[in-house]
Amino acid sequence: MTATYREQGDIAVVTLNNPPVNGLGYETRKGIVDGIQRAIDNDAIRAIVIIGEGKGFSGGADIREFNTPKALQEPWLQTVIRIVEDSSKPVIAAIHGVAMGGGLELALGCHYRVAVAGAQIALPEVKLGILPGAGGTQRLPRILGLEPALNMIISGNPVMSDKLAGTKLFDQMITGDLLEGAMTFARSVADARPLPKVRDIKIQYPNADGYLQFARNTVRAVAGPFPAPFKCVEAVAAAVSKKFDDGLKVERDLFLELVQTTESKALRHAFFGERAASKIPDVPADTLLRAIRSAAVIGAGTMGGGIAMNFANAGIPVKVLEAKQEALDKGLATIRKNYENSMRKGKLTQEQLDKRMGLISGTLSYDDIGQADIVIEAVFEDMGVKEAVFNKLDHVMKPGAILASNTSTLDIDKIAAFTKRPQDVIGTHFFSPANVMKLLEIVRGAKTAKDVLATTMALAKTIRKTGVVSGVCDGFIGNRMVEQYIRQAGFLLEEGCLPEQVDKAIEKFGFAMGPFRMSDLAGNDIGWYIRKRRYVEKPDVTYSKIADLLCEKGRFGQKTSAGWYDYKSGDRKAYPSDEVNQMIIAHSKDLGIERRKISDQEIVERLVYALVNEGALILDEGIALRASDIDMVYLTGYGFPLFRGGPMFYADTVGLPNVLMSIHRYAKGRHPEAWIPAPLLSKLASAGKTFN
Ligand code: 3HC
Ligand code: NAI
Repeated sequence: MTATYREQGDIAVVTLNNPPVNGLGYETRKGIVDGIQRAIDNDAIRAIVIIGEGKGFSGGADIREFNTPKALQEPWLQTVIRIVEDSSKPVIAAIHGVAMGGGLELALGCHYRVAVAGAQIALPEVKLGILPGAGGTQRLPRILGLEPALNMIISGNPVMSDKLAGTKLFDQMITGDLLEGAMTFARSVADARPLPKVRDIKIQYPNADGYLQFARNTVRAVAGPFPAPFKCVEAVAAAVSKKFDDGLKVERDLFLELVQTTESKALRHAFFGERAASKIPDVPADTLLRAIRSAAVIGAGTMGGGIAMNFANAGIPVKVLEAKQEALDKGLATIRKNYENSMRKGKLTQEQLDKRMGLISGTLSYDDIGQADIVIEAVFEDMGVKEAVFNKLDHVMKPGAILASNTSTLDIDKIAAFTKRPQDVIGTHFFSPANVMKLLEIVRGAKTAKDVLATTMALAKTIRKTGVVSGVCDGFIGNRMVEQYIRQAGFLLEEGCLPEQVDKAIEKFGFAMGPFRMSDLAGNDIGWYIRKRRYVEKPDVTYSKIADLLCEKGRFGQKTSAGWYDYKSGDRKAYPSDEVNQMIIAHSKDLGIERRKISDQEIVERLVYALVNEGALILDEGIALRASDIDMVYLTGYGFPLFRGGPMFYADTVGLPNVLMSIHRYAKGRHPEAWIPAPLLSKLASAGKTFN
C-alpha cells in the first residue's frame, strides 16, 4: 500500500508511503481518500493526521505519471484535496523533509499544518514547465500573502520551514517526535468548529493590480522562451480577482495547457535524464563504494586548479602537485583569485574562502599524495607526459586509490595500461571552467572496476556535477559530436556564411554561444592541434581549411585578442573582423565556390542534425548508455537550449523522418561524406520510433 491507515486512540493516522518521495500517484491518492472516509465513518475518531514515511511529507504529484492515463484517473489531486478540506473532522498535515508541489497543495487543503524545522517547502512546478495544478496558486497567496507566495511560485525555490514558522502556514512548529507532536496538536483542535479552510481567507493587498502588472513585466523580461512563469502570474492574478472555485478552474486550465508544451516536456526530460544518468545497467545500485575522504590533482593549470576547487567546495582536502614551484604558485594564486572574485560578488564569505583555501595544499613531491583516495591527472594533453605521470602514480598511490585522468581526447585504456592496476583507472572529463561547469563525463575503460565507476559517479554528485558515463572513443560523447558540428560550421563559411551569421542563427535557436565565439573562448589552437593529428591518423576526414588559415595568422581567440572576431583589451565582446571575413571570401574563391545566401534554418539544421547523426552512432555503439545521457551532456556542458531538451530529444520533437529527410537533402551538397545517415537514425525513423 502506498498510503496506510491506522488508528491510535481517538486519532487516525494516514501515512503516505510511496518511495522515494511519497509522490501522489493514483494509488496514494486513493489511499488518502479511503483513509479519510474510514476516519469519518468511525465515531471514535476525532481528528486525522496525514504524515509522510521516509524522506519527507511529499515531493508532489508523481511525475512518472505525467502524460499517462493514471495522472487523470480519479481521484485527482484536486478531488483528494477537496475531500480533505470538506472532512467533517479536522485534518492535520504533519510535515518533515519536503512538502513540495502537490505535497504542499495537499497540506494547504488540510485544516491545520504542523512542521519540524529543516523541511523544504516549495511549489517547484515552474521548474518542470508547469504550474501548481491542485490549488497551490489559489491557496498559497491566501495563507502567505500575495508577494511571498508569488515569489515562491514563479521561482519554484524552496523555503525552509523554520523561516516560515511565524506565518499562518504553520499552526505549530514541533520539536521532538513529529507524529507524537502532531497527535497532541490534533487532540487540542479536535473539537474546534468551524474548521478553518485556507480557501476562506481573503487576500489583502493594496493595489494588487499594479503589483501583478509589475510581476508580469518582470517575468516577461526574465522567463525567456518558457511560458510557465507568466502563466503562474495569471493563475495568481485569478486568485486575487476571482471567487475561489473560479480561480481553481483558471489554474486547472493553465496547468493542462502547460503540461502539453514542448518546453515542459523538455524540462521533465532533463529532470529524469539527470537522475537516469546515474544508473548504470550492469552496476548494481547497492555496489559498495570506495570512501573518498581526500584527493590529489596533478597539474595546477587551467583544469587542475578548477578541479581542486571542486573538492575544496565539497569539504574534501585536496593536494595539488606540480612539476615546478613557479607553476604551483601560479596555480594556487589563480585559485585564490577565483575565490576572491566570488567573495566580491557576495557569493562567498571570508570565512568560507579561508576554509576552502585551507583544504587546498600544494606540493612538488609524489611522496605527499600517496595516501589520497583519488588522484586526478590534469597535465598536458600528451601521451608521453601522461605515461610518465601514470607510471609514477602506479608506484606511489596506496592500493585501492582511484587513478583518474582528465584527458579530453586520449585513450583511457592506453593510459590504464601504463599501470599495473587498470581496474582502478577511469576518465573524469571536466569542462572548463571546471569549478563552474556542471558536466562531468565519466569515461569507463575496458577494465575499469564497477566499484570505481560507481564511486566516481557518487563523487560527481558530492561535488555537484552531472555525471554521465561515456565509453572510450575519440572525443567521448561531447567532443566527438561537437566535432561534426564544428565541421559543418566550417563548411558553411566556405559556402557563403560569415562567422557572425552562423553564431547569430544558432544563438537565436537558443545555444548560449555560437561555434565561432565558443572557439575563440576555448582557444582556436586546441582544435588546430587536434586537426593536425587527425590529418595524419584519419586522412579521409574532410575539414574546411579556413580554421587552419586563421591559426596560421596567430588568431587563437580571446587570449590573443584576435580569432574569428576581433577583441579589445578589457572587453570580451566579439567584433566582426574585416580581415577574417575577407580571408573567408578569398578562400571560397580559391576553392572555386560561388558563395550563396544561406538561410538561418539551413544553418541551424546543419549544425544540430550533425550533432544528432553522430549522437545516433554513439548510441548505437554503446558509447552512451541512453539517448537522455547524450542530452544531459549537451544541456550541461555545451549550452544546448534547455527548452529544447537536448539534441536527441529535439530530434524526437522534430520527428526522426523529418531529420532524416533533411540529412538526405544536405548529402546532395558539397560534403556528402559528412552526411551519411546513422543506421540507428534510419531504423528508428522508418519504424516510427524516437530516441528517447
Ligand atoms: N514524483 C516521482 N518521483 C520523484 C518525484 C516526484 N514528484 N520527485 C523526485 N522523484 C524521484 C526521482 O526521480 C529520484 O528517483 P530515482 O531514485 O529513481 O532516481 C528520487 O525521487 C530521488 O530524487 P532526487 O535524487 O532528486 O533526491 P533528492 O533528495 O536530491 O531531492 C526532491 C528530493 C527535493 C523531492 C527532488 O527530487 C525534487 O525536487 N523533486 C521534484 C519535486 C517536484 O517538482 N514536485 C512537483 C511535482 S509536479 C506537481 O506536484 C503537480 C501538482 O501541482 C498538480
Ligand atoms: P594547462 O597547460 O593549463 O595545465 C597543465 C598543467 O600541468 C601545467 O600547469 C603544467 O605545469 C602541469 N604539468 C605538466 N606536466 C606535468 C607533470 N609531469 N607533473 C605535474 N604537473 C605537470 O592545461 P589544461 O588546459 O589544464 O589541460 C590539462 C588536461 O585537461 C589536458 O589533458 C586537457 O586535454 C584536459 N582538458 C582541458 C580542457 C580545457 O578546456 N583546457 C577541458 C577538458 C579537459
